[in-house]
Amino acid sequence: MIKPGQLVMLVSPKGKQYFRVLQPDEILNTNDGQLQMQNVMEKGFGARVYTHLNRPYTVIKPALYDLIKAVKRRTQIIYPKDIGYIVLKLGIAPGSRVIEAGSGSGALTTALAWFTGPQGRVYSFERRPEFAELCRLNLEKTGLESRVEIITQDIDSGFGPENVDALFLDVRTPWECLEHIPQALAPGGPLGFLLPTVNQVSTLLTHLEKGPYSSIEVLEILVRHYKPVPERLRPQDRMIAHTGYLIFARLNLSGDEKAPEVQTDHEEENHIC
Ligand SMILES: C[S@@+](CC[C@H](N)C(=O)[O-])C[C@H]1O[C@@H](n2cnc3c(N)ncnc32)[C@H](O)[C@@H]1O
Repeated sequence: MIKPGQLVMLVSPKGKQYFRVLQPDEILNTNDGQLQMQNVMEKGFGARVYTHLNRPYTVIKPALYDLIKAVKRRTQIIYPKDIGYIVLKLGIAPGSRVIEAGSGSGALTTALAWFTGPQGRVYSFERRPEFAELCRLNLEKTGLESRVEIITQDIDSGFGPENVDALFLDVRTPWECLEHIPQALAPGGPLGFLLPTVNQVSTLLTHLEKGPYSSIEVLEILVRHYKPVPERLRPQDRMIAHTGYLIFARLNLSGDEKAPEVQTDHEEENHIC
């Protein structure tokens, strides 16, 4: 039995996914006929339910990964592999208040809203109204929209919210708004950026080094998928070789005072098991 208000993913015989915040009196119109959500509620996760044309749909409890992959895109999005590391580095947890820009299609926004929970708040800045609207629609589909304030504003003119727990920028020229960050982010708070080219990373580093930032880190994340064939286990022939570079830092504790560097000596890490 699924509770009303829970998010469900309904998968068609051809693999098309429908996301619904469950309302028992809703009837879902699909290409395969009508699905009674009352039936979905009673059958529960993992079950098969049938449309009035007798086509089987599978009822799944979606993972955050499914939500991100289902985001309707009209901008480049941040990929799950990068999002995973971003939320860990920024320490996003239930109750967190976080600023991000730009909203774009809302892939990162979805993840931030998921982790901050109903008590948290995501302030998502987007300068183009059509993308702000797209982000809102994508959030609405998954029932996460109440956790997010989408602000249609250019961040070059500043943010507004103060003392937030974390901040992430996925905009082309983030160095143009660095001056506004100390007013928005809590002292010592983590911040991050995604940039697609090394030239942009160099420019950003030049600006970050002027302060008040410390613990600066630059990395990229590569994921290699394998063909899941037991007798011939080997990597897939193709992979997404580049999405973007991730840059992280911390806002110094106060003003221009230099914070102690947190050691991140990855070369000396040993995997002990
Ligand atoms: C690559 S998209 C963001 C994608 C988003 N992070 C996601 O995961 O779906 C970059 C967005 O930043 C917006 N943008 C660029 N510069 C901005 C600025 N100065 N202020 C606000 N939004 C900005 C663009 O309009 C665009 O929608």
